Amino acid sequence: MGLFQHYLAKFGVEICFVPLTDLDAWRDAVIPGTRLLFCESPSNPLGEVADIEALAEIARAAGAKLIVDNCFCTPALQTPLLLGADIVIHSATKYLDGQGRVLGGAAVGSTEDMMAVTSFVRTCGPAMSPFNAWVVLKGLETLTLRMNAHSANATALAQWLTRQDAVKAVHYVGLSSHNGHELATRQQSNFGGVLAFELTGGRDAAWRFINATELMSLTANLGDVKTTVVHPATTTHGRLSAEQREQAGIGEGLVRIAVGLEHIDDILKDCERGFAAI
Ligand SMILES: Cc1ncc(COP(=O)(O)O)c(C=O)c1O
Repeated sequence: MGLFQHYLAKFGVEICFVPLTDLDAWRDAVIPGTRLLFCESPSNPLGEVADIEALAEIARAAGAKLIVDNCFCTPALQTPLLLGADIVIHSATKYLDGQGRVLGGAAVGSTEDMMAVTSFVRTCGPAMSPFNAWVVLKGLETLTLRMNAHSANATALAQWLTRQDAVKAVHYVGLSSHNGHELATRQQSNFGGVLAFELTGGRDAAWRFINATELMSLTANLGDVKTTVVHPATTTHGRLSAEQREQAGIGEGLVRIAVGLEHIDDILKDCERGFAAI
């Protein structure tokens, strides 16, 4: 039993996982009593894209609700409620603040659905301090500008990475070669700042690359002005078994970069340092 199953079982909630892009698998997973469909799009770290309208339809037909984690796009690039989702959630720690200054989260939905969130926050305590809330509000003032700048830098880096010999695959939804590109073009206004790439040299190459970079911060966080880099197989997805990671497409040579707002030449130069060390 995985961690999520373990925690939710305490509340009598059963969950199952389905491949994000396989609509038939979502339909098959719906059983009598299904209350909730939950997805993130694009997904972390491979940027797989969920068909939000189709999932909303499946949820509606089942009398269930659809929650979309919109962290990678933010409302600047994607508005899941307008595509039929019931609730959108964000880690405000990421792009909403956008400058690595506070921890926070947001849930957005109908007054009725949000009443449950409000009463939980009131009675259990995960509320923001006024100062942190002010910081996030200041972050929102530059959200659209930042998201488009993150997208431009990520697109340039992704294209550059496709030309590197040591790279087996580049996963960025802004590349026309990505299997979610066409759908993302329809439901997003830009492609966001997160990409991942697979090195032919496996874990050793990935660690050498990461350790040789100087500009990027080695951290599992994303959505900062500063570029961050991480090795998903040993961090964000380290709790999965090797078999589960393989199923999820998280290879040992995979490196995720959350592309920041530094000058693109500086980011490319840092990647050159990484490649020189492999
Ligand atoms: C898509 C997505 N949602 C949520 C989170 C979790 O954010 P937090 O740690 O602020 O709860 C992450 C963390 O990387 C993420 O990538």
